[in-house]
Amino acid sequence: MEIKGKVVVITGSGSGLGKAMAIGIAKKGGNIVISDIREDAVNSAVKEIESLGVRAHGIVANVAKEEDAERLMKETVSVMGSLDVAILNAGILRDGLLVRVDRETGNVKGKMSMEQWQSVIDVNLTGVFLTAREAAVQMISQKKPGVIIPIASVAMHGNPGQTNYSAAKAGVAAMTKLWAQELKNYKIRVAGIAPGFIATEMVLKDMKPEALEKWKSLIPIGRLGEPSEISQSAEFIIENDLVDGVVLEISGGIKI
Ligand SMILES: NC(=O)c1ccc[n+]([C@@H]2O[C@H](COP(=O)([O-])OP(=O)(O)OC[C@H]3O[C@@H](n4cnc5c(N)ncnc54)[C@H](O)[C@@H]3O)[C@@H](O)[C@H]2O)c1
Repeated sequence: MEIKGKVVVITGSGSGLGKAMAIGIAKKGGNIVISDIREDAVNSAVKEIESLGVRAHGIVANVAKEEDAERLMKETVSVMGSLDVAILNAGILRDGLLVRVDRETGNVKGKMSMEQWQSVIDVNLTGVFLTAREAAVQMISQKKPGVIIPIASVAMHGNPGQTNYSAAKAGVAAMTKLWAQELKNYKIRVAGIAPGFIATEMVLKDMKPEALEKWKSLIPIGRLGEPSEISQSAEFIIENDLVDGVVLEISGGIKI
């Protein structure tokens, strides 16, 4: 699918990878719907995208809420006239061990809370389910080809300290493959991206510095990825009609 002139909605695009993808796609002439839970981030990203000479529209929405997901995709079509590509990128981290044990005494001193578990499942798994479903509803109703790009993570293979996140991302990867099958009759391609460690706020601010250094040393290319490298991958998926039913690991070679 040619990017120029298409309407691309990106969840969680007020910052980080979502915003980088919005910029990369806008530079190729795509019109962008910026969506995020943070209104200030939506407004400033919309201005930045408009300055690139394409149409941009901002929608504040929480992907974990059914009514927000429905409104997001409906409003995209009513305001922008079409919905051609949906990038399901909004995500959060609430890392922790399943059970924390005091090394000296061997006594249990903590466990992953229900809040840690449920908040990540709500945004990273249910949020992708809801926004993919609503994007598919609009794409099928338009009777035009579409592309859905869920954002997983290499943590989908099972990363210690991320029970909640790994479970959600493994679910995203599974849904990506099955949706490609379910939606093929409507000319909707579904292909995902599983980034490795990319230099965004999520990684630079939310990860413990010791953990970040450890991971950096394990990346074969010797550095974190750049957000623009994830945008390149999303652009590739949109432009190459042969990419379908896969989750591309874009990670500098790290194996989890
Ligand atoms: N940065 C990495 O190294 C990396 C690696 C693998 C996967 N990912 C995935 O890429 C995606 C983007 O990550 P990032 O690094 O840009 O993170 P980020 O924290 O920089 O950006 C995430 C954005 O999502 C928004 N958001 C959070 N909860 C939301 C909700 N309920 N509804 C709507 N928007 C919401 C945030 O406000 C933020 O703007 C996530 O799904 C993440 O799991 C990132």
